[in-house]
Amino acid sequence: MDFDPDDISSNPSTATSFAEVVQSRFSRRSALTGGMGVAAGFLTTSIATAPAASAASAAPASPAAPAATGSHSKRLLGFTPVPLSTVDEVIVPAGYTATAFIPWGTPILGRFPKFVPGGNTAAEQEQQIGMHHDGMHYFPIGRGREGNQRGLLVVNHEYTDEGYLHTGTTVVPPLESWTLEMVRKSQAAHGVSVVEIRRSKYGQWAVARSKLNRRITATTPMSFSGPAARHRLLRTTADPKGKRPLGTINNCSHGVTPWGTYLTCEENFNGYFGVDPGAYTPEQASLTSRYGVGGDRNRWATKDERFVVTPEEPNEPNRFGWVVEIDPFDPDSTPVKRTALGRLKHEGAYAHVSKRGQVVVYTGDDQVNEYMYKFVSSGSWKSLRARGRSPLDEGTLYVAQFDDDGSGRWLPLVYGKGPLTAANGFADQGDVLVKARLAASALGATPMDRPEWATVDPNTGMVYLTLTNNTSSAKQPSAANPRTPNSWGHIIRWQEARGDHAATTFEWDLFAIAGQGRSSGDGSTIADEDAFGSPDGLWADPDGRVWIQTDGTQPAGANDQMLAADPYRTDGSGVPEIRRFLTGVPNCEVTGVVTTPDQRTMFVNIQHPGDGGGSTWPADGTSTPRSATVIVTKDSRGVIGT
Ligand code: FEO
Ligand code: CA
Ligand code: CA
Repeated sequence: MDFDPDDISSNPSTATSFAEVVQSRFSRRSALTGGMGVAAGFLTTSIATAPAASAASAAPASPAAPAATGSHSKRLLGFTPVPLSTVDEVIVPAGYTATAFIPWGTPILGRFPKFVPGGNTAAEQEQQIGMHHDGMHYFPIGRGREGNQRGLLVVNHEYTDEGYLHTGTTVVPPLESWTLEMVRKSQAAHGVSVVEIRRSKYGQWAVARSKLNRRITATTPMSFSGPAARHRLLRTTADPKGKRPLGTINNCSHGVTPWGTYLTCEENFNGYFGVDPGAYTPEQASLTSRYGVGGDRNRWATKDERFVVTPEEPNEPNRFGWVVEIDPFDPDSTPVKRTALGRLKHEGAYAHVSKRGQVVVYTGDDQVNEYMYKFVSSGSWKSLRARGRSPLDEGTLYVAQFDDDGSGRWLPLVYGKGPLTAANGFADQGDVLVKARLAASALGATPMDRPEWATVDPNTGMVYLTLTNNTSSAKQPSAANPRTPNSWGHIIRWQEARGDHAATTFEWDLFAIAGQGRSSGDGSTIADEDAFGSPDGLWADPDGRVWIQTDGTQPAGANDQMLAADPYRTDGSGVPEIRRFLTGVPNCEVTGVVTTPDQRTMFVNIQHPGDGGGSTWPADGTSTPRSATVIVTKDSRGVIGT
């Protein structure tokens, strides 16, 4: 999101300073490689050989690490890169076509109310696509060929712009004119859209009038499941049992389970609340402070008491910050907040299956100096589900510690283990999960430069994670977050021990340090022509192409963009091949990327075009800029990226 509360650290930990660690790691690299310029080359080589060797001796079936240089037989990137752009148009390479699809306000339900800029009611917005598209998945309907032409597109809506929402312009109505109807409309534009889409024989995608179409909003009834369900910190006057929360908000990135459900992540939930002054307990005060609760940024607290925090009614914010599971194929199903995955500003929830069949979910906490987590189910997801249990309710949540020498370990957030005891404010596992940030700090997790999306290369098992930037004066540098200030961000990656995603140790490496390019002297490792900043969205496609999307300041003041990397093809210094594939419009972010199973239709989201002005995209009969999905196809009908 463009609004960046994450630039402020609410992590007060100063226990670990990594300045010396950084120094030693860089001097070690310099000794081995002869200087910073080829630092990435050393790292690539070190991670490419070590895990592969151990995997070969311990477990022959484990995925091999990528080769250090171009030994991959297939060339993954075949398109001509596009230059940086500042124009109000989505640009893709020659031979490709980009078409805007399901912009905010597209009718999908009920009477299919037509979009009217600033003019629709809250009830109409509930029947239309929400605002500010983010994480997204395409679930095919039918097998084989049919699944490439018919499917469910499930799209997160991260936040709302109250100007465009209520007036169709950048003008935000004055506070004294705010009404409950406006709050309800804003709440209806949040959440998730589920929409069936079909491709005609002429190649055009369209919304189907399907029984599966659904809107999930900030007021949809949900349930809590897992260890923190019914916990005292989740109880409110309206829900005294702590079981039935209402709605999901600030849905940023997402995940998909092996059993075919969608995971939506609650990121900056904290800013939707107004906090009344009063006598808060130390526990209440520490939760408010560490999660940064307050601000009433969308003015919901002015008209909806649920978003007002008081000492007597302090728990509603604790009912957000979760990963929510949605069955997109059952429009009557109740979304479930899976508390075993912890409460944080979840950016994404990338699911992968371990060697023993456990579901492993990688999930970052996007704020300055916050942490990277993973959840591992207690047993194989198939056997748990066969016994009627959810694999997302039973398992262990871990937080990452990245050591200076390129190794790392996963520290368990388990009540009673280490410092997670009553003496430190954790009375049970529910406490540990509701206060996951505090628990992770107590364990000594590594503060990161804002963890955003994670993805797993299905061919090698390598995990990639974007760290978008960190210019905070409170930055706690480390070898894994080496640049201070980190204005442009970087991408880290790791191999789990023995190729086992349930392992508790790993070997990490820096994949790319973003910026204006190697010759600029800003510390970036990428080629000048591949310049990018603020990596955020990330997806390794079935072939291993790593799609990188940006949200934030770009080199030369350009628009946000999407690039593709071939991690198997590196130059002499170990830098992966990267090509710019798509450029967005002014003041947007590019986020959310997936393809149909045949990889011949790609869906990409353009979020908040013209945030503050500067765009009328997609210019579809109105001058109001609208977040939308972009459908990208190759004119030859080939695989996207080739
Ligand atoms: Fe919603 Fe962290 O980007
Ligand atoms: Ca972001
Ligand atoms: Ca994001």
